[in-house]
Amino acid sequence: MKTATLITLLFSVWLTHRIPQQKSPTESVSRMDAGKAVYEAFACHSCHGDDGAMLGDLTRAGEKYSDEEMIKYIKNPRAFDNRQMPVYEGVIPDKDFDDLIWYIRYLGEKTKQ
Ligand code: HEC
Repeated sequence: MKTATLITLLFSVWLTHRIPQQKSPTESVSRMDAGKAVYEAFACHSCHGDDGAMLGDLTRAGEKYSDEEMIKYIKNPRAFDNRQMPVYEGVIPDKDFDDLIWYIRYLGEKTKQ
């Protein structure tokens, strides 16, 4: 193997191992994309709007509820005396809640700025 080839190889190995370790802001950007994708896939934005403050203000939810409470709320808004919002129990896959809740908290932080 030529030295140049070896160096290129070692460099690409180093590079691929290095990139995932750069946590922020790369990590929060992809988290934001993931959260936004869930938020839009289940039509939250059709009522709450792109910034969470349309019909039904979401921007305080991050302060009002713990993660567990927020999941409960979204799964069954009727239990929180909300008759307008759809019941999402069994609709949103459990694995998507982390990103969704992260995104709701992010919208709340964004409106404060
Ligand atoms: C059909 C309209 C509609 C859709 C779609 C909808 N919501 Fe809501 N949501 C509301 C309304 C209206 C309220 C406010 C009810 C109230 O003030 O009591 C609300 C309240 C909330 C709250 C509680 C806010 C608070 O401060 O107590 C959360 C959290 C929430 N929605 C999350 C979501 C998420 C996540 C989605 C998508 C998966 C979603 N909603 C989809 C209408 C909707």
